[in-house]
Amino acid sequence: MFRPASSRALARGFTTRAVDGFVGAVGNTPLIRLAKWSEKTGCNIVGKAEFQNPGGSVKDRAALGVVEDAEERGLLKPGGTVVEGTAGNTGIGLAHVCRSKGYKCVIFMPNTQSQEKIDLLRMLGAEVHPVPAVAYENPANYNHQARDYAKSLPNAIWTDQFDNTANAKAHYVSTGPEIWEQTGAGVDAFICATGTGGTLAGTGKFLKEKSQGRTQVWLADPPGSVLHSYVTSGGKLKERSGGSITEGIGQGRITNNLGTFVNEIDGALSIPDEKSVEMVYDLLDTEGLYIGASSALNVVAAVELAKKLGPGHTIATILCDGAYRYQSRLFSKAWLKAKNLESAIPEHLKKYAVLD
Ligand SMILES: Cc1ncc(COP(=O)(O)O)c(C=O)c1O
Repeated sequence: MFRPASSRALARGFTTRAVDGFVGAVGNTPLIRLAKWSEKTGCNIVGKAEFQNPGGSVKDRAALGVVEDAEERGLLKPGGTVVEGTAGNTGIGLAHVCRSKGYKCVIFMPNTQSQEKIDLLRMLGAEVHPVPAVAYENPANYNHQARDYAKSLPNAIWTDQFDNTANAKAHYVSTGPEIWEQTGAGVDAFICATGTGGTLAGTGKFLKEKSQGRTQVWLADPPGSVLHSYVTSGGKLKERSGGSITEGIGQGRITNNLGTFVNEIDGALSIPDEKSVEMVYDLLDTEGLYIGASSALNVVAAVELAKKLGPGHTIATILCDGAYRYQSRLFSKAWLKAKNLESAIPEHLKKYAVLD
């Protein structure tokens, strides 16, 4: 007769491999070698599969980092409230972390964001405040409203993802060491785009320190961001032109997170949207990877850097999130046409644009 194991026996059996809840599942993502681009360049092009985090993006690390930092500093106690201004992945990461730790999550975002984003955050249990989309200088900007709302509540924090350096620290203690270990201490260069700057600054700082300066760290930038001009001019210029369809990256200022590392960046590459969108389709076709445009931009940049450094190098980058969050745009013929990106996709890859 079948006799179910006692729950204690089951728990004993699980403890060797199971991680502790959502929080325990953040990080330790695979490092994926991209075969076609590695062969083409004679390098190892490797992407950190951050889309495998339990909330679906690289921002799970930052979300957990800022919440745990506030707990450690005694700013957030059981039953407290976490407030952030965000329209993207950070809000999703925070909503998950808050549910798993029993906090209330409140998100302020510009009211220009899609209903899908608002609905997703609400489904994850967050309270969402869409507010008028006004410039950062205006006190009614969503970031300032988030800060002021947190101040008005007891036992509440504003996580301040752009300028709270607990964000970069989360990558310094996790993403950096993981890449170092997964490449067998053989990473010659690391490159990625930045939004808050947390990923580039934290990961880059760790890799530079650990390699005693041997690992080069480069910035990848979409159109419309000032960072490429800032890095290539040695901090003298902050020029920008055009705009980008990528989400979550590109920046108009040096955030505190980026500021912890910006002077140590070895170089910067500006990547046009045409190349990023083509790479979304290429990675789907050649690797079976379904990733968003910021991840694709990172791979384009890693390939360009490999060509600069020459064969025999290992170049690491970040696969930030999956294409699921953007599919109604990236795989829509009408959207591609409206953005003048139809011709960026080679004929043999057009079959993937299945949405009208
Ligand atoms: C899709 C995506 N890629 C890249 C980034 C940039 O990461 P970071 O904020 O660490 O610079 C973000 C940040 O929100 C993002 O949502």
